[in-house]
Amino acid sequence: MSSIQHLFDNNQQWSDKIKQEDPNFFKNLSEQQTPEYLWIGCSDSRVPANELLGMQPGEVFVHRNIANQVIHTDLNCLSVIQFAVEVLKVKHVIVCGHYGCGGVIASLDDKSHGLIDNWLHHIKDVYRFHKERLDAVEDKEEKLKLLCELNVIEQVANVCNTTILKRAWAAEQDITVHGFVYNLHDGILKDLEVSVESN
Ligand code: CO
Repeated sequence: MSSIQHLFDNNQQWSDKIKQEDPNFFKNLSEQQTPEYLWIGCSDSRVPANELLGMQPGEVFVHRNIANQVIHTDLNCLSVIQFAVEVLKVKHVIVCGHYGCGGVIASLDDKSHGLIDNWLHHIKDVYRFHKERLDAVEDKEEKLKLLCELNVIEQVANVCNTTILKRAWAAEQDITVHGFVYNLHDGILKDLEVSVESN
C-alpha cells in the first residue's frame, strides 16, 4: 500500500499557515457558515471551486458531480440546493461546466461505459434538444465546446425549474442562477450570460 502520510503532513502545514495569517480563522469558521454562493460543478479534479474563485473555506457551498448536472430526480443535488437556498440563503447559484469535460466527451461516443451511461444519458438529451445547432458544427473540438456550454445552459434551466427556486422567488428571495464555463487551458471562467433572477 502506498503511503498517504504526506496528506496529513500537507494538512498540518496548511492549517499552520492559515492560523499564522489569522489565529481566529478556524474558530470563526466553526461557529458559522454563511456562504453567498452555491457552486454546482464537475467532479473533475482540475476544476476546484474555491481556488479558481480565489475564495476561502466558508465562502462557497459546493456540489459536484460528473458533468455538473442537475437532474430532477437526484435527491443528492436537490438536497444541496434546498439547504443552500432555504437555510444558508445563498445569493447566487452558479452552475459551472468546463471545456474538455470527460463526461460530455463520453456522451458523444457510442461505446458502452457501464453504469455511468445512465448518468451520461442526460447529456445525450441535451444533444437531442439542440441537435440542429450541434450537427451544423463540423469541427469536433468546436462541437464539444458548444455541447459543454449547452449542457450548462440546460442545467441552469433545471435549477430554475426546481420547486426550491420557484418557491424562493415566489417569496421574493434575492437569488440569481448563473451559468459559467471554465477553460482548463488558462484557468479563466466565462459567463455564459444566461443569469436568471426571478420566475
Ligand atoms: Co467534467
